[in-house]
Amino acid sequence: MNAPPPTTNSFERLFSPLKVGPMTVPNRICETTNTIGAAQMPGFVDDSFMAHHVAKAKGGTGWIGSETFLLDLPLPDEAADEFFPGTGAVRFPLYKMPGFVESLGRFREAVHAEGSVVVCQLTLLNFTMAASSVPIVECYDWVPHPLDASEIAKILHTYAEAAEEFVKAGVDGIEIHCAHETLPQTFLSPALNQRTDEWGGDARARTKFLRELLLGVKERIGDAAAVGIRISGQEAREDGYDPVELREMMSHVAETGTLDFVNVDVGHCWGKPSYVQPSYVGHAIYRDIGRALKVDLDGPAILFSGRVTDPGIAEQLLQSECCDLVGMTRAGIADPEFANKARDGRLSEIRRCIGCNRCIGQSVNSDVPDMFRKPVCSVNPEVGNEIFYAGKQAPPSETRRFVVVGGGAAGCEAARVAARRGHEVTLFERGTRLGGQVNLAAKAPGRDSFEDFVIFQESQLELHGVDVRLEAEPSAREILALEPDAVACATGSQPRWPDTPGVRSANVVQGWDVLAGKAEVGERVAVVSHEDGFETPNVADFLAAQGKHVEIFHKWLAIGSQIDRYSIGAVMGQLVDGDVAIHTGMRLAGVADGKLEFVSAFNDRNVRFEGFDTVVLVYGSQPDTRLYDELKLAGTTPTGSTPKLFLVGAAWVPRVLADATQHGARVGMEIG
Ligand SMILES: Cc1cc2nc3c(=O)[nH]c(=O)nc-3n(C[C@H](O)[C@H](O)[C@H](O)COP(=O)(O)O)c2cc1C
Ligand code: SF4
Repeated sequence: MNAPPPTTNSFERLFSPLKVGPMTVPNRICETTNTIGAAQMPGFVDDSFMAHHVAKAKGGTGWIGSETFLLDLPLPDEAADEFFPGTGAVRFPLYKMPGFVESLGRFREAVHAEGSVVVCQLTLLNFTMAASSVPIVECYDWVPHPLDASEIAKILHTYAEAAEEFVKAGVDGIEIHCAHETLPQTFLSPALNQRTDEWGGDARARTKFLRELLLGVKERIGDAAAVGIRISGQEAREDGYDPVELREMMSHVAETGTLDFVNVDVGHCWGKPSYVQPSYVGHAIYRDIGRALKVDLDGPAILFSGRVTDPGIAEQLLQSECCDLVGMTRAGIADPEFANKARDGRLSEIRRCIGCNRCIGQSVNSDVPDMFRKPVCSVNPEVGNEIFYAGKQAPPSETRRFVVVGGGAAGCEAARVAARRGHEVTLFERGTRLGGQVNLAAKAPGRDSFEDFVIFQESQLELHGVDVRLEAEPSAREILALEPDAVACATGSQPRWPDTPGVRSANVVQGWDVLAGKAEVGERVAVVSHEDGFETPNVADFLAAQGKHVEIFHKWLAIGSQIDRYSIGAVMGQLVDGDVAIHTGMRLAGVADGKLEFVSAFNDRNVRFEGFDTVVLVYGSQPDTRLYDELKLAGTTPTGSTPKLFLVGAAWVPRVLADATQHGARVGMEIG
């Protein structure tokens, strides 16, 4: 299929250059800072870091914000021996490590070679010290140490000193992180800054810390790099600043004449709203805050971000004067080439971010030690594996015949990768559409963007010439009759049934069937949950949105324990809006006539609930390996060859979408 001709004109503003202080950004598309943890050694600028972030520059993103750089935390002398566990405090600032400036310089060269610019974010992210001793992050009650004047002086010095090091590496811009509960925000916030000295007080007084900080940085680096801030457009917390007060504070900060850009977003690192907006949140909903700053501030360029996944929306934000630059960060994780594809008019080839937040969830997942935590994206298997995939781009030495059975995420991705590499691929799907479980997830309120992944796969399989056969469930014999060189069984999984007395009765149904619209559900519903991800709240939301009375009974301490903290607020907010009641520590012991008997997860006490019309089970799923087992037994094709056999995705082990996509892609590579 021939690519359509370039349609650059439809994105006229998006692809126009912009001068921001001393740097020229080649277009308006920005990778705002995203600490996804691309380096093998956390915090370093190594080959993996380069491969991940330079891919976006290669793909046409003009502004590369890469990952945040944590600054030194100057401890007061009297606390020099203290250790601060679990606070994000860094005692060995990496920018002071030997070789750091050189490695950052290499990164800058690689980004420049693609015509893009490097902007580095400097962060004092700690909840140990703050303007006042008020807990900063609402979900924890950590009381910080209030900074005294000498500590403030040390910290201001740290920012200026660090900026100078980054300029030595030749970076184009320096961004001071003042959003997301970082230290400068604790000074700006009327909720967090309760000081009565010169660093606290009215809106102007609360900007003093930031004004001094910027003047100090500017004094050290002059015009060697653009200088800007990242700021929350409103605090969205009790007694926090609102957009009106932000505008007042920004006018005082702008008076310093130090600002080349202002990067504005909204949200915090917990609850609702989150600055990494999940799928439940609309696109660019805080755009008016960008527009207001653009009206107020004469000099600095305004960068706005917040779930802009589509180049069309980005262009519209620019055209309607909401901003001068658009953050499209997860858009670039999901598809580092999206900018070039948009510029060239290859819009249907863009793999869109679905707002699942797996990327940020994984990057802050404290269950996995830093050293072993790899970046991940649900829809893009190359994330975190860029070097591995780069080595696999060469076309195969011979074309193989590859049969994939099952058109869920794993099957589609296996077929897509294999066909793109030049193999001859046939994909069988028993349903009427590709997508498998992704289609079910997309039925839940606020999850419709998941369908984008299905649409992407459909158009990719067509583009790469995969022979897709829907409503087809071939037997092992029929598959072998095709004389395949390789077969991938991506036959997915089936919902799990517990062997609890009474569950196999008419008014007990599976959550999957509810989402698929196959189950009849009454007005009073008990959702019994043995699952810790999004499935339980998705099913409950789906039913509550139909006006049903829903109660969740969860096996352990809390539902959604595997949901990232950037999404959980929106998820729980929806359940609150739907008046969904949640009971925890409940193990189902029996069901009969709308009565449920539970045994406590923590002792042997039994608890009874009654009056339910329907019981919905959300118990996870178990692999469907029937076809794989048959093929293993059948062995050879009619001509006597033995195809390579793979068990892929949920058919191997049911996990999350990212795992299915990655597994599928690996198989698509491994067939030769
Ligand atoms: C994995 C990940 C890590 C992030 N880390 C940072 C960070 O260190 N500093 C920051 O200011 N924003 C960080 N962000 C927020 C992004 O800069 C951006 O504001 C957010 O993803 C919303 O924009 P988007 O909808 O274009 O992705 C991170 C986002 C992601 C996905
Ligand atoms: S993991 Fe999900 S939210 Fe993150 S970039 Fe990929 S699709 Fe978007």
